[in-house]
Amino acid sequence: MADVSLQGVSKLFGGIAAVSDVSLEISDGEFVVLLGPTGAGKTTTLRLVAGLEKPERGSVMIDGKDMTHAAPSQRDVSFVFQQYSLYPHLSVRENLAFPLKSPAHNLSADQIKARVEHVAELVQIDHKLENRSTALSGGEMQRVAIGRALVRDPSIFLMDEPLSSLDAKLRGDLRIELKRIQKELGSTLLYVTHDQIEAMTMADRIGILNEGELLQLGTPREIYEDPVNVHVAARLGQPGINLLPLEALQITSAPTGAVTLGLRTEHLEVLKGAALNDGSTMEAKATLDRVEYLGDQNRLHMSLGEHKLITLGDGQIEYDTSAGEALLLRARDALFFDHNGDRVR
Ligand SMILES: Nc1ncnc2c1ncn2[C@@H]1O[C@H](COP(=O)(O)OP(=O)(O)O)[C@@H](O)[C@H]1O
Ligand SMILES: [Mg+2]
Repeated sequence: MADVSLQGVSKLFGGIAAVSDVSLEISDGEFVVLLGPTGAGKTTTLRLVAGLEKPERGSVMIDGKDMTHAAPSQRDVSFVFQQYSLYPHLSVRENLAFPLKSPAHNLSADQIKARVEHVAELVQIDHKLENRSTALSGGEMQRVAIGRALVRDPSIFLMDEPLSSLDAKLRGDLRIELKRIQKELGSTLLYVTHDQIEAMTMADRIGILNEGELLQLGTPREIYEDPVNVHVAARLGQPGINLLPLEALQITSAPTGAVTLGLRTEHLEVLKGAALNDGSTMEAKATLDRVEYLGDQNRLHMSLGEHKLITLGDGQIEYDTSAGEALLLRARDALFFDHNGDRVR
């Protein structure tokens, strides 16, 4: 495999920057996930690496070589598209073998057979090798699509939301498998998704992409615990971070320049009943508007004056929403942001 480097890459469509001055180094054997909403520039970034788009500015290096102007066929990348397509008239075995049949590979029939069977085992489709690809479930088809990328030994794998069309259970299973396979093969993998769980669970490093810009790049823990701005902070965490004006809680110890307070569920302690504000600086009285009981947890929807908050509470506790139950909120280790939304410490 190889390392990949984007240096100041921009791609415009009709004057709009789909990708804007993105610099990104992916090490050999690293699993990098770009996370962003629809329209963030994820697919365009992958297409730039694959050579399916040419950047207006910047360069794309693969394995130390400048590939900015190289054709896709010269780049040695393997792409799994969002809308996967198998050859319906071919069996699973023939679909998996297809990328190896090009004369460029110059492999014997035995070598192809061995490679296909190895990959079929990796993606756990070996029991269906002789099936028509149309006689498979959605999850099985997606395994074949991923397997078809894996049979080759390219410089880098590019995957565009490959699990997004699957149901939740299968997505959960396949993301664990994909991570296992990537580790086993030592693959360099650039994966894009709008799903924060996929990013958190699979990535060595996550890049947060927003309106074509790479806002932050770091380990899942760095991105979650130490976001550079409100966009990054809001991208991870379920329920999402609560962003409130500083005045919403009586805070005396905020850093200079802070105007917004960011409270994740683990920053908030919810005290029920007649607990009194003991004068500590990070407390406020809230009203419970709604409870979603999830068994192990309660998802608490609260009002703090005119502001709304959502946090998780203990599933064992019963709440009374009919009367707009009064709660005491106690916050610690909050995040602070300035008027531009940038983090202040
Ligand atoms: N071929 C194209 N022509 C014009 N605009 C495009 C084209 N491809 C993408 N865009 C625009 O570029 C932006 C980023 O798109 P895309 O990379 O597909 O985002 P994502 O994959 O994150 O949803 C969007 O605003 C999209 O409409
Ligand atoms: Mg896309």
